[in-house]
Amino acid sequence: MKHNLITKITLCGLLLNSFYGNAQKTNLEVNIANTVTKIKPTMYGVFFEDINFAADGGLYAEMVKNRSFEFDNPLMGWIQPNSNRHSLNAESGIATTLNVSERKTNPNFCRVTINNDKGYEILNEGFRGMGIKKDNPYNLSLKAANPDGTIKKIIVQFIDKNKKVLGETSIVPTAKDWQTYTAQLTATETEAKAQLKITFEGTGIIDLDMISLFPQDTWKNRKNGLRKDIVQLLYDMKPGFIRFPGGCIVEGRTLAGRYQWKKTVGDIENRETQINRWNVEFAHKQTPDYFQSFGLGFFEYFQLAEDIGAAPLPILSCGMACQYNTGELVPMEDLNPYVQDALDLIEFANGGVDTPWGKVRADMGHPKPFNLKFIGVGNEQWGPDYIERYKVFAKAIKSKYPTMTIVSGSGPSPDGAFFDYGWKELKELNADIVDEHYYKSPKWFRDNVTRYDKYDRKGPKIFAGEYAAQSVSAATPNNRNNWECAFSEAAFMTGLERNAEVVNLTSYAPLMAHEEAWQWTPDMIWFNNLESFGSANYYVQKLFSTNRGTDLITITKDGKPLIGQNDLFASAVKDDNTKEVILKLVNTSDKAQEASIDLKGSKLQTKGTLITLTSANVNDENSFAEPKKISPTEKEYKLNGAKAQLNLPAYSVSVLKLKMK
Ligand code: AHR
Repeated sequence: MKHNLITKITLCGLLLNSFYGNAQKTNLEVNIANTVTKIKPTMYGVFFEDINFAADGGLYAEMVKNRSFEFDNPLMGWIQPNSNRHSLNAESGIATTLNVSERKTNPNFCRVTINNDKGYEILNEGFRGMGIKKDNPYNLSLKAANPDGTIKKIIVQFIDKNKKVLGETSIVPTAKDWQTYTAQLTATETEAKAQLKITFEGTGIIDLDMISLFPQDTWKNRKNGLRKDIVQLLYDMKPGFIRFPGGCIVEGRTLAGRYQWKKTVGDIENRETQINRWNVEFAHKQTPDYFQSFGLGFFEYFQLAEDIGAAPLPILSCGMACQYNTGELVPMEDLNPYVQDALDLIEFANGGVDTPWGKVRADMGHPKPFNLKFIGVGNEQWGPDYIERYKVFAKAIKSKYPTMTIVSGSGPSPDGAFFDYGWKELKELNADIVDEHYYKSPKWFRDNVTRYDKYDRKGPKIFAGEYAAQSVSAATPNNRNNWECAFSEAAFMTGLERNAEVVNLTSYAPLMAHEEAWQWTPDMIWFNNLESFGSANYYVQKLFSTNRGTDLITITKDGKPLIGQNDLFASAVKDDNTKEVILKLVNTSDKAQEASIDLKGSKLQTKGTLITLTSANVNDENSFAEPKKISPTEKEYKLNGAKAQLNLPAYSVSVLKLKMK
């Protein structure tokens, strides 16, 4: 009998072993009682960069491309199918654009001459089409002037590629002078590639401008607001901060093309349209129709930060155009307006309603300050020209706003001569926080998990501001958001977390991309005109961010951090608010492994939660067809005794959460 039992137990053990592939066991120890350091609420954030149609055509829910006819080609995005010379209906009508130079910020408008109101139409193609959803209402607004009163009606319809009408409304342009009209259309079908068709009743001339269309269903139902599905993805991450609006977009290819926040606030109509610097940057993905309407401007960025509970982190030009492009420099004696922009931005965000810029904010509907604590000087600058300019900014900002934390930059690479020079100088200057960028191979991320172990704890703090594993290599269109990249980033992030004493902010880059209009890949969130999904990298970021904790504690193997022994990586925190211990373990090997974790220093409840993110193949990816192929699964975890036993699947990220008693 006894013999039989032993045989059964042994057999069972053998079966389990073969099931787990003779899983190797790693013994770990967690010391819950000792806090190594407090973890900053800003530890995990997001970096919103206007690249890949992230603003216009993406987060900003405007559906009409070139609504104010201000693109370099003023009729780009607008099609007149019956108005080309070879058409039978050549005489039906024509749209041209006129320029009123006194209207400095929005000089162009569209003049439509209708000769045959049964034959003429003008279409807007949207941002690679317009995504419309069955039964959803859409808000139309436009400005029109009907000088002779001959145009009786403006008819606006959604159509599909077969010209089938999918919703319709009309406007009666009663006034001779410019007037804004509004109407509503409801979509009768869901269609990803709808267009907006405009026809007329009556013949003669009508002038049109600011032809705009938004879904009514926006984030927080704000009129003419942001795409709800995309903001929801950001909100769900509980990001500690949001860096905006770039990226190289801040610098511009030339100084004239830099991002100027003052031109992005106030009345939307008066925000001067500007070419986006990513427009034709890459031969591999030209997007000549990429412009910035600035409908998503600095007020909206601050509001977004507030909505998603993230600290705002605006980045400003420091008087240097992108050093990959022209590298144009503002002479030192002309730097003052740039510095003033930074001081005024702080007033815009935090100043009382009685200050000039605080009043602008209040007039836009937000009398309460935005509580700005961080400001970035330059994006990815390098060399003595940067340091020289940074000094001027830092002096001016700190003398007026001593508690403002300034983010400086160390250039585009995580090492090398420029990096070393920048760091040396910034350290001597007692810089608050230095931004580091790395777009490297998945292996680099796994190999560099100890990067911050030796950073001086008394020196500037670190902002890992732009990083993403590149499956091929940086700036290659063939990079994929694959599982190997994502779990390698997770391994690296355990190193960021272990070094929370010096690493205070971190963010993946870039944040989002339009399925058809991207320039840069990989990206954390992908969207088209109807849907969006988080990549595997998104779920890694979300796991860390939503399990940030308040205190760093140690998780060790033989007294040393777990930094790749047995291909395992780990970090641990506790959360003072939820009274939880949270362990993050990453298994980067192709075999399942076991971990036996001795939890010392606090009594724990036996019931916990185990979250696992895994996928069988390193090349697996999420997609529109399978948006949650790689997404976390959560199950109850039972703690038996003082040691937690965990099975860590091959290629996996595991988060174990246990309540302290
Ligand atoms: O994220 C893409 C680009 O990479 C950013 O604009 C720039 O800061 C970096 O070079």
